Amino acid sequence: MKFASLVPAWAALVSVCSAAVTTKAVSASVTFDNTRRFLFDTNGRQIDAYGSKVNNFNGKYYLYGNSFSETGVAYGIKSYSSVDLLNWQYEGFLFNPAGNNNPCAGSGGCGRPHIVYNPKNKNYVLWANAGSPGYVIATSSSPSGPFVFSTNRALIDPAFDSLQPADFTVEVIDGEGYIVFSALNFKSPDAGSFWPPIFQNMHASKLTADFMNTTRVSWPVVSNANDLIDNEAESPDIFKSGNTWYVAASNTCGYCNGSIALLYRSNSIQGPWTRQILEGYSCNGQVEGVLPLTNPSTGAVTNVWHSTSVPGGPRTGFGGHIFQPLNFNADGSAKNLDCSTTATFPVTFTKGNGTAAAGNATKAVDATPALAVYNPVCDSDSFILYQTWTASKAGTLKSVSLNIARGSQTVPLALTVFKIPSVNDMFVPEVKWTALGSASFNANQTTYVFDTVTVPVTSNATVAKGELLGLSISGADYSPWCHLESDTANGRGFKLYQQGQGQYSWRGLQGRNPPVYERQGKSVKFFATYA
Ligand SMILES: *[C@@H]1O[C@H](CO)[C@@H](O)[C@H](O)[C@H]1NC(C)=O
Ligand SMILES: *[C@@H]1O[C@H](CO)[C@@H](O)[C@H](O)[C@H]1NC(C)=O
Ligand SMILES: *[C@@H]1O[C@H](CO)[C@@H](O)[C@H](O)[C@H]1NC(C)=O
Ligand SMILES: *[C@@H]1O[C@H](CO)[C@@H](O)[C@H](O)[C@H]1NC(C)=O
Ligand SMILES: *[C@@H]1O[C@H](CO)[C@@H](O)[C@H](O)[C@H]1NC(C)=O
Ligand SMILES: *[C@@H]1O[C@H](CO)[C@@H](O)[C@H](O)[C@H]1NC(C)=O
Repeated sequence: MKFASLVPAWAALVSVCSAAVTTKAVSASVTFDNTRRFLFDTNGRQIDAYGSKVNNFNGKYYLYGNSFSETGVAYGIKSYSSVDLLNWQYEGFLFNPAGNNNPCAGSGGCGRPHIVYNPKNKNYVLWANAGSPGYVIATSSSPSGPFVFSTNRALIDPAFDSLQPADFTVEVIDGEGYIVFSALNFKSPDAGSFWPPIFQNMHASKLTADFMNTTRVSWPVVSNANDLIDNEAESPDIFKSGNTWYVAASNTCGYCNGSIALLYRSNSIQGPWTRQILEGYSCNGQVEGVLPLTNPSTGAVTNVWHSTSVPGGPRTGFGGHIFQPLNFNADGSAKNLDCSTTATFPVTFTKGNGTAAAGNATKAVDATPALAVYNPVCDSDSFILYQTWTASKAGTLKSVSLNIARGSQTVPLALTVFKIPSVNDMFVPEVKWTALGSASFNANQTTYVFDTVTVPVTSNATVAKGELLGLSISGADYSPWCHLESDTANGRGFKLYQQGQGQYSWRGLQGRNPPVYERQGKSVKFFATYA
């Protein structure tokens, strides 16, 4: 792939343009990259769907995956819809994870969810990994639910009855349903004290005609090496290009900070398979799916490899998603992934029907950009922060929302929206701000991902264009609150100031250093709405 241009760092690294073509299908383009891993919904909340898959159902794109927001571990499945792969509307949980009639509690939260559409009965069939045997299945007349679980489980090849069904994918290819699954062996005498803890091998089966079961006949997805790489394969997805079958996968990883990127290919679903390692660390991610995007003008399909990109460790909810198109050689092999931080990947695709969704964040007047590269920062134990900006229009301010993630706090997060005539007022003792509104939030009013908290503006709400506004963020605790930060573009009016906790006096040999000073070049993610 040729990269048309390298976009400057702050410029939105995803851009979309669309133009009607003569046929009914509308062409759009999207540009992916390796650095903008956090995606947000139209209300400014982090997209909370890990091990995600994107499908085009009935002319619209749906992204779904396990939620980590409520409990900090996989708990239920959320879905989002989009027509442009840019504005994502939150569509809620696929089923009530707290309800009694779901099998997900205590068994991985219904992991690695996948949905297939059965045109014969117009049913969407959800498959998920929740204990043994086999997989749990649920059906709905809508791709975003509510899904109702079957009391029967879909069963796999009885050869693996003694193993634990694990990561899997289901897909419909040329009208037929397929599953690729791995089965965990916890009992191997070859398990190491350090690693590997478990062994797992991938297998492919056909689904039954109703897409609600497997035929219970399977073929191994393994290379002729049959080595530890084949024997630690997980997180598969399957697709076909021409006459070649492909299985994308990674190695045992557990939402880690980077696993090898595997691509198997064969002329038959029954193998034999040729294996490639496309990248050593999957650009610090783990493949979660392959998204086929069709250029409506040429009919050409771009298979977009996408990964869950996480910091590793227990904070899976601090992860996001990175996307890049696969490029193939004449022999059907794929070129290595490009993990460079400056790479951009424009893809032309068929726009979904309907208009792009809008929400509080997309309609917000003053906001740090949704398409910037954000990183989690957890330092409310050390600093009070003051985010400032200038009102971009005259009007009545209604609320200010901030992206915040919890840990195990006992001290509330305290937020105040304020006005001051000049930023210099922060460096001068005894200055009073004009308060516009305050709110505080206990940990139980926030989540383990970057959802928003909102401060209502209750006084002095009328602002003039160019007036200096601010948000103070304070919550000193042993376990700090976390916010999102990005590099601030020049001239956008956003600045971030910090004050060390407990610093309320002049400092320095001359006694002239104020305790408030700028966190150079940074801004927190927030948005302000007007009435
Ligand atoms: C959207 O497009 C699909 C085909 O891609 C079509 O089946 C469906 O009826 C369309 N829906 C609307 C609301 O136009
Ligand atoms: C799948 O098939 C097996 C028999 O092969 C059956 O026991 C099980 O209930 C079926 N599951 C579903 C969801 O139909
Ligand atoms: C994450 O991956 C990067 C690149 O491979 C590496 O430099 C870093 O040390 C890793 N961090 C952890 C916690 O594994
Ligand atoms: C959007 O803003 C309105 C008005 O401020 C508020 O009532 C509503 O809860 C917000 N919706 C979301 C999803 O944040
Ligand atoms: C939320 O946390 C606060 C502070 O710990 C506590 O007082 C309150 O009862 C909790 N509310 C709920 C609904 O658990
Ligand atoms: C801000 O609002 C308060 C309470 O409504 C009011 O007393 C005060 O005069 C206002 N300040 C300014 C500068 O408008």
